[in-house]
Amino acid sequence: MQSPFVFVIFGATGDLAHNKLIPALYTLFSNKQLPEEFYIVGFSRRPLTQEEFADLFEEYRHKSEWKDFAKHLYYQQGNFDESWGYEALVEKLQKIDEQMGACITRIFYLATPPENYQTILHYLQTTKLSEGCGQGSSKWTRIAIEKPFGKDVETARNLDKTLSEVFEERQIFRVDHYLGKETVQNILVFRFANSIFEPIWNNEYIDHVQITFAEKKGIEKRGKFFDGVGMLRDVMQNHLMQLMASIAMEMPTSFSKEGVRDARAKAIQSIVCIEPDAVGENVVRGQYEGYKDEKDVDPDSETDTYVATKFFVNTPRFAGVPFYMRAGKELEENKVEMSIVFKQTCHLLFKEIGCPEEGNILTFRIQPNEGITIKTIAKTPGSKLNLETVNMHFTYDEQFGTKGIDAYEKVLVDIFTGDQMLFNRSDELASSWTFIEKILYGWEKGMTEVFQYKKGSMGPEAADQLMAKDGRKWL
Ligand code: BG6
Repeated sequence: MQSPFVFVIFGATGDLAHNKLIPALYTLFSNKQLPEEFYIVGFSRRPLTQEEFADLFEEYRHKSEWKDFAKHLYYQQGNFDESWGYEALVEKLQKIDEQMGACITRIFYLATPPENYQTILHYLQTTKLSEGCGQGSSKWTRIAIEKPFGKDVETARNLDKTLSEVFEERQIFRVDHYLGKETVQNILVFRFANSIFEPIWNNEYIDHVQITFAEKKGIEKRGKFFDGVGMLRDVMQNHLMQLMASIAMEMPTSFSKEGVRDARAKAIQSIVCIEPDAVGENVVRGQYEGYKDEKDVDPDSETDTYVATKFFVNTPRFAGVPFYMRAGKELEENKVEMSIVFKQTCHLLFKEIGCPEEGNILTFRIQPNEGITIKTIAKTPGSKLNLETVNMHFTYDEQFGTKGIDAYEKVLVDIFTGDQMLFNRSDELASSWTFIEKILYGWEKGMTEVFQYKKGSMGPEAADQLMAKDGRKWL
């Protein structure tokens, strides 16, 4: 990356900036992946000097290049809903341009709670920050906006409307960092660069697909954000939808921004929505015991800290193949996996000695230890013929000696270079909200109870029943 840029983080004192953005920027800097000239400007309510802003990241200060990196950190105090902070930001950015003797690319990253998005967009427009220094020539600016993108179809549509009034589509980066995960990108390569999988990637061979997003951690200090949002909106509407799309999509017409985004959008559009009346049968809503006592949580909260669903994808390839997805907090283990479970038929040849219950399963693993496992049936050692399921695996760590690039590093590099392939398009988001919204209606109509589950378990028993009634189980 050669071109200088200014990266303005709205919500710079928040969790996302602290835990993801600044560490990713630091790593890119220490790996020499940033240009010589770049400016990171934090924008937040707190009155901080530049030094105090840098000091917020004190746990990184021992890192060898932190001192040099910190020279690129700037700060602007401002309230999101008052113009003075934005006006001061205009001046600050103008000074940078003067210093550089050119209009340099401005990137605005909205890392605030989503209720601030509309207000910030409004001020970016009225102060002309959105237009960049060549006022009127918007090519010098980009906007990155974090999920959740709205909270239902209507709010997502409204947000999109405002965004499109202020920026052109080519300037908009709707972030879902799961698209930046190595394994998610690798699924495309795995499926379409290895010709042996395409012929079996269909309902003739696949029994079902299951996706698990299990986190040991709870809501941490995010009660204010999480309560009323829940797992369905926080991760299923976005991260899990993208995981599902990578499995269900057809081959993109080209490995280009629109080719890949078209294929993803079509996959999400093909999900058969669960009608509100069928929610009780197909969706399990859970909450861990003790959630209501968490800080900033309503003591009568019905917010889902766990959700499991069963649905179908209406494409010739996947017609009749159930997809099961579950996501939860305070679970037994950290595990994010997508498994394609192939139909298990015990060949006549082995009927007498018996086949293992588990047959061929292909698993893409994001957590822990990103990689891929294929289960195959093998003969156990010894004189007797006996069959067992065994694992063949690949991990990034073993194969390449690295865990790969962090998802936020990838997201940032793509924003800096203007590559939108791994960012959401509004049609993908509209389809996933349509699916999620019907479940929310079902919940509003009281179609299912909120099942309690113990911390450290794998969620409510009802989620096991969801599979058991189809004669299947979570892996
Ligand atoms: C975020 C969600 O988008 O993704 C969090 O808001 C979740 O609730 C996180 O914990 C998981 O991301 P990762 O990269 O740690 O798996």
